Amino acid sequence: MQDGKENWAEAAAKAPAKEPERQYYFMKRAGARADELAGRLGRRPTFHVTTFGCQMNARDSEKLCGVLESAGFTESEEENADFVIFNTCTVRDNADQRVYGRLGELKGLKKKKPHMKIALCGCMMQEPSAVEKIKESYRFVDLIFGTHNIYKFAELLDMLYETDGMLIDIWQDTDKIVEDLPVKRKYPFKSGINIMFGCNNFCSYCIVPYVRGRERSRGPKDILREIEALAADGVVEIMLLGQNVNSYGKNLEEPVTFAELLREVEKIDGIERIRFMTSHPKDLSEELIQVMKGSKKICRHLHLPLQAGSNRILKAMNRGYTKEEYIALAKHIREEIPDMALTTDLIVGFPGETPEDIEETIAVVKEVEYDNAFTFIYSRRTGTPAASMEQVPEAVVKQGFDKLLKTVQDTARERIKRYQGQVMEALVEEVNGQDASLLTGRLSNNTMVHFAGPVSLIGKIVRVRLTECRGFYYLGEMEES
Ligand code: SAH
Ligand code: SF4
Ligand code: F3S
Repeated sequence: MQDGKENWAEAAAKAPAKEPERQYYFMKRAGARADELAGRLGRRPTFHVTTFGCQMNARDSEKLCGVLESAGFTESEEENADFVIFNTCTVRDNADQRVYGRLGELKGLKKKKPHMKIALCGCMMQEPSAVEKIKESYRFVDLIFGTHNIYKFAELLDMLYETDGMLIDIWQDTDKIVEDLPVKRKYPFKSGINIMFGCNNFCSYCIVPYVRGRERSRGPKDILREIEALAADGVVEIMLLGQNVNSYGKNLEEPVTFAELLREVEKIDGIERIRFMTSHPKDLSEELIQVMKGSKKICRHLHLPLQAGSNRILKAMNRGYTKEEYIALAKHIREEIPDMALTTDLIVGFPGETPEDIEETIAVVKEVEYDNAFTFIYSRRTGTPAASMEQVPEAVVKQGFDKLLKTVQDTARERIKRYQGQVMEALVEEVNGQDASLLTGRLSNNTMVHFAGPVSLIGKIVRVRLTECRGFYYLGEMEES
């Protein structure tokens, strides 16, 4: 700000040192800047956050939206807003490529609208090579920050309006968790909740531990308080988020297990469904299986990434379990909780993987009979141990991938249709994207069902007869209640 108004450095010196108070102070200042901008534009300035990657990134984006809205910006459905953020992912190379592609499109928009501000954050920004590339080839970007200092967004937002050129703030790591910042939820009736950040597993193919830092759990009281507030605000379904929720709480001053946390979450009135992501097979405890079994709220869906079915590859991946241990675990879960849907992640083309190894993965898929599986082609990530191992020829990968995908789809189709004719509860999420006369709901086991009903049911749990299985989803009819 000019004309004798205090500048950013003076303001920062006066800002509270404590968080989140410091960020609320900067939100207020950013609000004054938004007002100023509104005066110039003759309307409220708009923002748009585009999210790449996983549910954790989606939750981070809700926090960015919360800050921007608190500072007086209005959310816009379109990317052509006054403030645009790309919250990036770098788990596979195609995630990076999508970001570069979309950035190219933004360049044109900014030319027509010079006051437009463009910010990049998230996992890809923790990679020095990506930041270098942006500095060189995408000069029109205004702000870059990373995963560790996302809580500082209000401060950066305020500083940005006084910075000429690109403002870059990336931290290598943090042990900090800042609570009680504003959040703008995408859905009124369901929400993700971070229970931990980072990852300590260092699977040899994976970049996440490098870009998200070491594992840190939030205190159980903070988590429960947040869920209670969500329930009071109309949320009926929550998803507890972490890269490995099964190791939740191990490093807290007073250690708590994930199963213990779930028991407490179950007691919160108003919450009707509990989901969580992701469960690492090596840390899944008997205590957790028993809590899931006895729970009325925990959904009948467990995402249990296998990655590969060959013991040699699992070892090279540093996954910490054998194929036999995984199969025994999956069988045990199905014995204890027969209606539990199991889904998984699979990678084809990890260094050294042979067609025989891929056959082993296919055999596990057939044996476990997943309800669904995400199949990925291995992507070489610079800095990970697997990047320096011998890579698999493309033809082997392609052939193996197609075969695995077909097995996964055939198995899932068979599994999903077993509920045909039954009545199940569905949480109504939205009007069907293709056919506006239908609503789309999600079953406890994560399968989608489409059925006729009034829009007023969105956010409600209804009983639906699953009349026809159409491959991976159902058509249904609502039951009279
Ligand atoms: N923490 C979760 C997974 C997070 S990443 C877990 O351990 O289960 C989501 C998925 O992306 C992984 O399960 C894995 O299947 C896939 N993935 C991660 N790194 C990859 C890479 N370099 N190439 C291809 N797929 C990868
Ligand atoms: Fe990556 Fe493994 Fe951590 Fe999952 S558990 S985020 S795959 S390192
Ligand atoms: Fe991607 Fe980061 Fe999630 S790399 S998958 S957005 S943790």
